[in-house]
Amino acid sequence: MRLDKLLSSSTAFTRSLAKVAIKQGKVKVDGVVVKNHGQKIAEDALVEYMGVSIKKPKPQFIMFHKPAGVVCANSDEDHQTVFDALMLPRMETLHIAGRLDIDTTGLLLITDDGQWSHRVTSPKHNHSKSYLIDLHSPITDKQVRILTEGVQLKGEPKRCLPAKIEIISELKIRMIIGEGKYHQVKRMMAAVGNHVVKLHREQIGNIKLDESLKENEWRELTAEEIELV
Ligand code: URA
Repeated sequence: MRLDKLLSSSTAFTRSLAKVAIKQGKVKVDGVVVKNHGQKIAEDALVEYMGVSIKKPKPQFIMFHKPAGVVCANSDEDHQTVFDALMLPRMETLHIAGRLDIDTTGLLLITDDGQWSHRVTSPKHNHSKSYLIDLHSPITDKQVRILTEGVQLKGEPKRCLPAKIEIISELKIRMIIGEGKYHQVKRMMAAVGNHVVKLHREQIGNIKLDESLKENEWRELTAEEIELV
């Protein structure tokens, strides 16, 4: 982490006040004054401000049950954002690992650990996502076959990876996909001639939405859940 970021996320300093303090020579790293505010600081470095050691904040890992009508953005003039519901310290450092559309409900993972969220979303790490889908029209055998073979989306160079489908009823399915393209589930259903009426994400990789969380509620991930990614 950069020195100015570390200082501002561990103290009451804003980023610009942190830069001033660093420039004034008030900050030491492993016993040596550092005046370069952009310097990268090792995980185990001892950082001091005027002789007082600064504790690096623990990374945050949060599971949020997103309701419909809430947007996955840091700010929005017209709608409540996910972050409005969280009310956490150091919220400006948090980001969402895998956004959902405004009308989609379910599991959102939120963190300030960029490497962890990269592992959640990067196709290389192969974390599938499980969605419950309410459909406009009864699912057909042909639609299931196309989706499970890999449907071609408009404007995409390659076909989607094969989806796994579980039929719950003729108007409700569970679909597990390996990618996270923009509006992917809705586009997949449209490409086979159906339409998503309701969409709910239940799981990302092996992390399941905690059934005890009601919409708009959140909890920290357990150490085991963090390790699953
Ligand atoms: N696919 C969609 O179309 N929308 C979402 O919110 C998530 C996946």
